[in-house]
Amino acid sequence: MSSALIEQGKKLAAIKAVEENVKANMILGIGSGSTVVYAVEKIAELNKNDHLNLKCIPTSFQSYQLIVEHGLDLVSLDQYPEIDLDIDGADEIDKDLNLIKGGGGCLVQEKIVASNSKNLIIIADFRKNSKNLGESWKKGVPIEVIPIAYVPIMKKLEKLGGKPVLRMAKSKAGPLVTDNGNFIVDVDFGIISNPEQLNDKILKIPGVVDTGLFIKMAKKAYIGQENGQVLVL
Ligand code: A5P
Repeated sequence: MSSALIEQGKKLAAIKAVEENVKANMILGIGSGSTVVYAVEKIAELNKNDHLNLKCIPTSFQSYQLIVEHGLDLVSLDQYPEIDLDIDGADEIDKDLNLIKGGGGCLVQEKIVASNSKNLIIIADFRKNSKNLGESWKKGVPIEVIPIAYVPIMKKLEKLGGKPVLRMAKSKAGPLVTDNGNFIVDVDFGIISNPEQLNDKILKIPGVVDTGLFIKMAKKAYIGQENGQVLVL
């Protein structure tokens, strides 16, 4: 799979989603990950050229930096608890627009922002589109957990049929620590036929902060294809 085609897919999806959905005076949620970078570039260009007066709420430290570096107006959920539009990436998108997110470890703030948005739009390249979750994303469902509880939580996730792995940091000994000071457990559940039910079961485990399963949250997905087209689901 060519990395140039993947980048092209991300960029085309991001640009089309921004052009079709971002309007003047909106409060925007800015997602996290590599695809969102292309969306922020386009948002910043339109904001400047067309004087759109956009206000942006981040979903991670990465997205906070993207907003600031592109000269966009950074605001918080405290000031603007109702977001007009949230644009974010995903690790996998199923036929019902349920998602796996959190490959970049930002799922909790992403879900908070998405849940307070009138509209969540997903941007992704052709690798992310599946019939069922777990078909193409093989790294497992990311689950953010309170650090002291990670061992009992992993045992409970095994009882739910998963294979949990504590995500380790790169360039640091020990586990990855999220923007919220927690750990991430990635859990392989194989093909997930009922993501809503699985999500409900995981959320009942004490110490689980949230899961990377985003159920019935996305309104639309823009998926950049290998042939240069953008599929809108
Ligand atoms: C961040 O934690 C994730 O939810 C990202 O939105 C997701 O991993 C997609 O990232 P890419 O755009 O880098 O594929």
